[in-house]
Amino acid sequence: MTGRTIVVTGAESGIGAACATAFGAAGDRVAVLYFADHAAAEVTIAAVRSAGGEAMAVQAHVDDEASVDAAFAAVERAWGPADVLVNSAGVNMTGVAVREMTLDHWRRMIDTDLTGAFLVSRRFLAGRGQAVADAAIIHISSIHAYAVRAGGADYCAAKGGLSNLVETVAIEEARRGIRVNSIEPGMILTPMNARAQQDDAYRRTLEANIPLGRAGKAEEVADLAVFLASDRARYITGARIVIDGGLSLMQALGA
Ligand SMILES: NC(=O)c1ccc[n+]([C@@H]2O[C@H](COP(=O)([O-])OP(=O)(O)OC[C@H]3O[C@@H](n4cnc5c(N)ncnc54)[C@H](O)[C@@H]3O)[C@@H](O)[C@H]2O)c1
Repeated sequence: MTGRTIVVTGAESGIGAACATAFGAAGDRVAVLYFADHAAAEVTIAAVRSAGGEAMAVQAHVDDEASVDAAFAAVERAWGPADVLVNSAGVNMTGVAVREMTLDHWRRMIDTDLTGAFLVSRRFLAGRGQAVADAAIIHISSIHAYAVRAGGADYCAAKGGLSNLVETVAIEEARRGIRVNSIEPGMILTPMNARAQQDDAYRRTLEANIPLGRAGKAEEVADLAVFLASDRARYITGARIVIDGGLSLMQALGA
């Protein structure tokens, strides 16, 4: 074991589950924070353990301050302050244009993908107190933080705001040894892309737009998260790292 404690949000599914497993393989203790599906969290826990790590499941709604506080307190009681936060909890865009979008719809996205990032970051920092020691925060953002899509105003605004949160916290916390970065995936095959996972013809149509010719895997994002949390990334902070097979470079080629 490394002695590191890793908190992963949204760890019962997709990129979060892959990150939890990859940190398990690195020999870490992983707190699997899940939204509602305890059985799915148990599957992640089994994967972390069989990869060689320790794991515990804790429920956390990232958009709820009390829930985030309670989850971190449970982790700290068991293992002490977290060394690494990977925030993968999020909801996807739904294709609703602004003129049709209700305030509730907008708020659900901002509360989860942006305010949630603020709440888990702040609670992670509170747990560390004034310690000066290596630590890392990694947010799973998106290429849509800068590559906008019609029907995704809520998502693009949340992930765009997340970029500024990451950069600001990076300079606030650098002197304490806490590095803060985000990962900006393109198309990754997870339950968030359920149709592409299930419908080969549909997936191939989308993959035709990706220079590397295929969608990405959650495990490929997890490899990047493990690197960013490691000493090999010791001089990287405030960075937003794209992992998209070249997709976002194709923006201007449509016309
Ligand atoms: N899959 C992709 O193509 C892709 C691309 C770019 C960015 N992302 C981002 O990656 C992150 C992970 O997505 P994924 O693809 O693994 O999708 P996913 O749907 O498999 O996982 C998202 C997880 O977030 C959890 N969640 C949702 N609302 C929550 C809340 N309020 N509190 C706590 N947990 C909550 C869900 O229960 C789920 O487990 C998201 O932030 C997403 O925006 C995904």
